[in-house]
Amino acid sequence: MAKRPRIGVVGSSNVDLVTYVDRMPVWGETIAAPRFEMSHGGKGANQAVAAAKLGAAVVMVSKVGDDMLSDGVLQNFERTGVDARHVERVNGQSTGTATILVDKSGDNCILIVKGANGDLAPEDVERAGEDLGSCDLILIQLEVPLETVYATLAFGRRRGVKTVLNPAPVVRDLDIERARDASFLMPNETELAILTRLPVESEAEVAAAAKTLVERGFEAVIVTLGARGALIATPEGGRRIAPVKVEAIDTTGAGDAFIGSFARYLAAGLSLDAALAQASRYAAFSVTRRGAQKSFATEAEFEAFCAKLG
Ligand code: RIB
Repeated sequence: MAKRPRIGVVGSSNVDLVTYVDRMPVWGETIAAPRFEMSHGGKGANQAVAAAKLGAAVVMVSKVGDDMLSDGVLQNFERTGVDARHVERVNGQSTGTATILVDKSGDNCILIVKGANGDLAPEDVERAGEDLGSCDLILIQLEVPLETVYATLAFGRRRGVKTVLNPAPVVRDLDIERARDASFLMPNETELAILTRLPVESEAEVAAAAKTLVERGFEAVIVTLGARGALIATPEGGRRIAPVKVEAIDTTGAGDAFIGSFARYLAAGLSLDAALAQASRYAAFSVTRRGAQKSFATEAEFEAFCAKLG
């Protein structure tokens, strides 16, 4: 790698409690499920670990609780090479958790308890300013308070560091005026529909909805479409990033794999389209394995996967 990319992530750290089900239960029903796994997750931590596994230097700004889960989260950052000097422990708070059900087609539904992630404040971003200011790119999602999101984007704009806003999980009251500080907005199609209040059934509708966000001032809107690839909208026009066909067993964290790897390759100097093509391959690899971070490829695994794709 010519230049080691440097990525900052301001975001959540969770422990994922994942139950694999044959079918989703209906309200009030009790069913037996074949498999349970506990693993490291959180959209922020997932994106950080994806970039780190691909060789980037990653600095994480996050919070954990003072419960039995927090040590494991900190050890996981150490193991994966993520700089966790700005991950603080909050007394009397729980570590963030995600209760996840994954069905036979690999699709999921997720219930989040923010815990300490809800205490990540704009001051924490300022405190990490020296490290974040030297990054090539800063990533942020919506599992932390909105004021912290806006502060991170404003920090990036002020310091000349490009930022990626992943508006997930989406909230209707996201202030688009303040979110516009982001260099790249990366929603999935459901998030795009909620942000724009427009239909996204067809690809033409997705393109039209993304275009309205560009018209409202975003430099680039990248819509992830799962198995259908991705779509980019910029003031110069829109285009598609082709999907990579694989057999999916668990899509948990695929969006995070996409964003973390995109950041790593863009920061290393690849063009927007080339970085997105790499991200599409990296996310495809992740859905062939169970879990979020556990499913992310190392650089060597990813190179082998890409070689097979040809
Ligand atoms: O994007 C997947 C992640 O969402 C999971 O790891 C879970 O922690 C939730 O935050």
